[in-house]
Amino acid sequence: MSNPSRALRQTLRDWQSAGLTHLPHAEPTAALVAETPARGDTRDDEAAAVPLPDKSLPDNQPSGIVDVPQSEPNRIESTVPRAKRVQQLEALAAVVSRCVRCQELAETRTQTVFGVGNPEARVMFIGEAPGADEDAQGEPFVGKAGQLLNKIITACGWKREDLYICNILRCRPPGNRNPSPVEAANCREYLDAQIRTVDPEYIVCWGSVAAGNLLDETTPIGRLRQKWFRYGRAKVLCTYHPSYLLRNPSAKKPVWDDMKFLLSEMGLEPPVP
Ligand code: URA
Repeated sequence: MSNPSRALRQTLRDWQSAGLTHLPHAEPTAALVAETPARGDTRDDEAAAVPLPDKSLPDNQPSGIVDVPQSEPNRIESTVPRAKRVQQLEALAAVVSRCVRCQELAETRTQTVFGVGNPEARVMFIGEAPGADEDAQGEPFVGKAGQLLNKIITACGWKREDLYICNILRCRPPGNRNPSPVEAANCREYLDAQIRTVDPEYIVCWGSVAAGNLLDETTPIGRLRQKWFRYGRAKVLCTYHPSYLLRNPSAKKPVWDDMKFLLSEMGLEPPVP
C-alpha cells in the first residue's frame, strides 16, 4: 500500500518546483477569490501573491496595465535556461492535471489542457478555454478555431512551435459556456506562473474573455484592438477570437491588421505569400 505522508511530501515538492506557493482549495471559496488580487490593482501587488517560478527573472519593467509608449527602451532578456523553463512547466502541468479547484470542471473534464509550445517564445497566445476537441486531445486550439489560428500563425511566418499557446482556463467548461469569474480566478495562478516562466515579450489575447480576464477590461474587444497594454514584462495586444472569425469572416481583415501591428512592433514583416 502506498505511504500517504510520502505521497503528500512528493506532491508538495512538485508544487514547490512548479513555483506554487499557495495550497489549492478543494472547492472554490470566497477566501480563495479574495486572495486573488483585484484586477485593478497594480501588478506589484500581484507579484506578491503570485509565485515567481524563478526569482532570478529580471524584472526591469514597470508592472501595471498601461498603454505602452512606443519609445520604451528595450527590455533585458531573461537568462533562465530553456531546460529550467521546461522543468518548471512540466512540474506545473503535473500540478494542474490534478487540480480540483473548480469542482464542476474537474468532474466533467476528460483531461486538463495546460498549454503548448516554445518555453522561450517571444509571443504567447492566450485564448479562452478548451473546447471539446481540446478536452479530447489535451492541447489548446486544435479544433476548428485552432485550424484558423494555425493559418494566421503561418501567414505571420511562424510555426505553432515558435509560440507558446494557452488559455484563461485549463479545463473545458461544460457545453463550452464562458468561464465564470471564480473559475478564471482559480486558474489565474497557473496562467501567471506560465507567463512568468515563458516570460514572453508579447502576449496576444484572443477574444474578449482572454482580454477581459487578463487585463481586467470590460471595454468591448473592438475598442481594445490596435493598442498596447502591459502585463508584467509583456506588451499585450488584443484581437478577435478565431471562433468569432469563423462566424464573422469580415473580421478577418481587422485581425490581419492586428497581426501586422504586432509584427511591425517586433521588427518583423509577414512573409510574401
Ligand atoms: N478556443 C479557445 O479559446 N481555446 C482553445 O483552446 C480552443 C478554442
